Amino acid sequence: MLPESEPPRGTSSSDPGGAISPRPEETKKRRSKRVIAIANQKGGVGKTTTAINLATALAAVGRRVLVIDLDPQGNASTGLGCDRNGREVSVYNVVLGAAPLRQAIVHTRIPGLDLLPSTVDLLGAELELIDMERRSYRLRDAIAASGASYDYILIDCPPALGLLTLNALTAADAILVPLQCEFFALEGLSQLLRTVERVRRSFNPTLELQGVVLTMFDKRNNLSDQVAADARDFLGEKVFKTVIPRNVRISEAPSHGKPALLYDHRCAGSRAYMSLAREFLIRERAQLAA
Ligand SMILES: Nc1ncnc2c1ncn2[C@@H]1O[C@H](COP(=O)(O)OP(=O)(O)OP(=O)(O)O)[C@@H](O)[C@H]1O
Ligand SMILES: [Mg+2]
Repeated sequence: MLPESEPPRGTSSSDPGGAISPRPEETKKRRSKRVIAIANQKGGVGKTTTAINLATALAAVGRRVLVIDLDPQGNASTGLGCDRNGREVSVYNVVLGAAPLRQAIVHTRIPGLDLLPSTVDLLGAELELIDMERRSYRLRDAIAASGASYDYILIDCPPALGLLTLNALTAADAILVPLQCEFFALEGLSQLLRTVERVRRSFNPTLELQGVVLTMFDKRNNLSDQVAADARDFLGEKVFKTVIPRNVRISEAPSHGKPALLYDHRCAGSRAYMSLAREFLIRERAQLAA
């Protein structure tokens, strides 16, 4: 479960009506780099695959992107070709305040795409953070202090709603939810949306739902159609038009330490992620204009 709320920096818990708003200079900074948490407490729904391939597609069209691997499993780090020797300083050190964010960043083989890698040490962070000051804002503070200049920072969250995911949602401008087209998917989504609402109330009032992306869609399976239709009924325009198909090339790519887009850029999965990136950028432009 999520811990009790704490005030963001520059505010106090005695704010009238509990209204917490970011400082003006923070709003300005956040405009220049958008932080997107890719989250769903359900395991194996395509969070990491979406983080890696959306980031690659965005870098391919000239955006500067940082992927933060906030999962002790370290799948985003492996999938982006960062072997364990390349993770001496990791997101664990950053979240605990032992290293500045810049020191932990590594370049990937994709121009314009950097990575903040993870290691299994991060498993201990959930416990170690409990007694720390600003435990829910550690990642947000580290990003703000880094001065790192990216167009997008995508955070790959672990499959849980604990302190690590809370740190991602507190740092984020928006959340992107991969939803696997399977039974019970919508039940998990309702729980996640309630959590987002709670985070908005207590920690990060400007957090938006960027969108829901349907993953592992199997056109031979009626259930996939049903879940997709129900998700669109429930969330309307928030569901991306682009649907990611179940595609064997996508599942093969991580074992080669490559995004699907590098492993086989012509496969249906890669094409879908390019289309998702286009739709994502159109939404982002609309958001900026609003
Ligand atoms: N569109 C797809 N087609 C086929 N396989 C896929 C697809 N998307 C993801 N997979 C595979 O499904 C598995 C789970 O995907 P992924 O690791 O992205 O999920 P996750 O939500 O990050 O999981 P976790 O909750 O454990 O972090 C992986 O083996 C991945 O390669
Ligand atoms: Mg994952």
